[in-house]
Amino acid sequence: MKVLLLGSGGREHAMAAKIAQSKLCDTLYIAPGNAGTSACGVNINMKVTDFNAIGKFVIANEVKMVVVGPEAPLVAGITDYFAEDSALKNVMIIGPTAQGAQLEGSKDFAKEFMNKYGIPTASHRTFTEQTLKEGQKYLETLNAPYVLKADGLAAGKGVLILDDLQEAKNELKQMLSDAKFGEASNRVVIEQYLSGIELSVFVLTDGKHYKILPSAKDYKRIGEGDTGLNTGGMGSVSPVPFADKAFMQKVEQRIVIPTIKGLQKENIQYKGFIFLGLMAVKNEEGELEPYVIEYNVRMGDPETESVFPRIKSDVVELFEATWDGTLNQLPLDIDNHTAACVMLTAHGYPESYRKGDVIRGLEDVKGSLVFHAGTQINSKGELATSGGRVICVTSLSDTLPGALLNSLQNAERIKWSGRYYRRDIGQDLLKFTLNS
Ligand code: AMP
Ligand code: GLY
Repeated sequence: MKVLLLGSGGREHAMAAKIAQSKLCDTLYIAPGNAGTSACGVNINMKVTDFNAIGKFVIANEVKMVVVGPEAPLVAGITDYFAEDSALKNVMIIGPTAQGAQLEGSKDFAKEFMNKYGIPTASHRTFTEQTLKEGQKYLETLNAPYVLKADGLAAGKGVLILDDLQEAKNELKQMLSDAKFGEASNRVVIEQYLSGIELSVFVLTDGKHYKILPSAKDYKRIGEGDTGLNTGGMGSVSPVPFADKAFMQKVEQRIVIPTIKGLQKENIQYKGFIFLGLMAVKNEEGELEPYVIEYNVRMGDPETESVFPRIKSDVVELFEATWDGTLNQLPLDIDNHTAACVMLTAHGYPESYRKGDVIRGLEDVKGSLVFHAGTQINSKGELATSGGRVICVTSLSDTLPGALLNSLQNAERIKWSGRYYRRDIGQDLLKFTLNS
């Protein structure tokens, strides 16, 4: 069959590489894709939110399956658009409806959902401009640090964690009264601070049945030792060594099952990925307990670049079962190796960054996978940077140190002016591997 994948990042290159391996896929289109995805299929110059163009392309090219990479088209209702069009409604589209995508599109919706279905999460209250004064009073009842979250999508920037009460009150005012994050901060969620270690768990669901994909940890800050500005993600490791069987059982029983049951009770059609952003918090006995920090309705980036290479099953077969509601009839085969991904970024990232630096050395990479995130071919036919996150290098090994070493050695071989990467990805997890 013909498959269309929407998106253009490292996540999509990693997904494209797996889809292209499927025995069920004869042609893969990627829209808009990047210089890397063109090795897995045909790049099509279409915007992921241009539903009209996407629909026409799907019909004209007899595409049978559409896999949605990023959240924006899901929140904007691409799945509903397909369902409502008689010529598109039988196309298998992997991603939830707009209502389901509210799990990511509205923090308030997600928190209310978790409370209603007893899913462990930080306690919270939501405020608007009309209730600003109450919000400021509520902050006085909490202890530092204070967690303020813009309700809507704010390109990963809408969360503030502040130590000072006065600053928190001022920021709340700026978000609610001065539209600090535009419309996204018309409503603000204030929540209890959770102290622990973050990790991501991914679920593929057909709305009834589910498969839990391998856990991963990403590294969000630009600087080594988790310092400096937030980024889209500077690397990832899968699996997370402390997410052992006992921990994952808690995730399944307390979070995955109630989430899917909750979606069913709310009559929300959900065929796609659920990304659980979790905090592992130590209880009084010293055991780790999972809490949901956030839901996303897609795979993570750069988590996908370490999770997808570990999937041995045919992903198109899994997607077909996701559409048909028969996910329970398929096994999920996972490679036992540890994957480590190191992201290489452009000069200036995550602030305004340079584009167009020529990339060299890819031919020297040995024994790692290379996924493109922000690359393009320039007018001279050379590979050049075109985004902040440019290329990621993923290695699979029997051990975490082995995977990390291989990725770092190969990262060093890829060069452009101003290229940067963190050398400490995964170092914080080594203490857990020694114990296991
Ligand atoms: P979010 O966009 O909700 O994932 O938040 C961005 C980041 O803020 C998370 O990845 C966490 O590092 C941090 N964060 C969010 N909520 C909390 C919380 N309740 N307690 C501690 N840290 C948090
Ligand atoms: N790596 C975090 C995200 O994709 O949102």
